[in-house]
Amino acid sequence: MNNGNQGDNMNRDNVIEIQGLKKSYDGGKIKALNGIDLEIKKGEFVSIMGPSGSGKSTLLNMIGALDVADEGTIEVAGIDLRSTAKLNEFRSQEIGFVFQMHNLIPNLTVRENVEIPMYETDLSTNQMRERALKFLKAVGLEDKADQIPTKLSGGQRQRVAIARALVNRPSIILADEPTGSLDSKTGDVILKLLSDLHEKENVTLVMVTHEPYVGNMAERIVNVLDGKIQN
Ligand SMILES: Nc1ncnc2c1ncn2[C@@H]1O[C@H](COP(=O)(O)OP(=O)(O)OP(=O)(O)O)[C@@H](O)[C@H]1O
Ligand SMILES: [Mg+2]
Repeated sequence: MNNGNQGDNMNRDNVIEIQGLKKSYDGGKIKALNGIDLEIKKGEFVSIMGPSGSGKSTLLNMIGALDVADEGTIEVAGIDLRSTAKLNEFRSQEIGFVFQMHNLIPNLTVRENVEIPMYETDLSTNQMRERALKFLKAVGLEDKADQIPTKLSGGQRQRVAIARALVNRPSIILADEPTGSLDSKTGDVILKLLSDLHEKENVTLVMVTHEPYVGNMAERIVNVLDGKIQN
């Protein structure tokens, strides 16, 4: 498709456009990303699959501006991530992260954990509290708001992580094995939550998974091998 002018002539339907993205570690010895080309459309549900160490998390971190590439171009929600000075703003407005290990902060309550992304906004303390409770209700955990995360089950913690990812109404959700640490029944609840969001709110969903049946729920599977896309 349109690959001519990079950046200023972006295809409007694509919310993510990546060209020739490279990232290496250990002084170039480990090529985590070795020339990734990827386009994802607005509202699309894509799963990213591939063996352990193939670069899936690195790729997701690049899309969410948690890490910086060595080479190539990456544009997300119309923003050139290499040149913008407003990465925090970009992240808090556009991106909801659900990590491989739901990294909740153990000495904050469930509600406070959900409030974290809103610190970047100009909402008042009361507005943050109300919004956090609303999203905890949406994931069925309003009664756990004042609990600390270590007292919750794995599935409950992952639901808190999802509430936290959604609280700023991101246009893109990046989920890194959101069901990896859960039993299959709890995992199904999480998957249903995520796919409902994609269907009802037209959120773009990019999900890393090892499970073929999870991958098959997506509209498209992108296979990563040795830092490159296979299909
Ligand atoms: N911060 C880092 N420092 C050094 N090497 C790293 C770093 N992060 C990732 N790597 C290496 O980059 C490669 C890709 O890692 P990545 O975490 O993206 O893999 P993955 O596909 O997500 O694997 P998994 O399925 O096990 O989560 C691996 O060889 C990994 O060891
Ligand atoms: Mg990973």
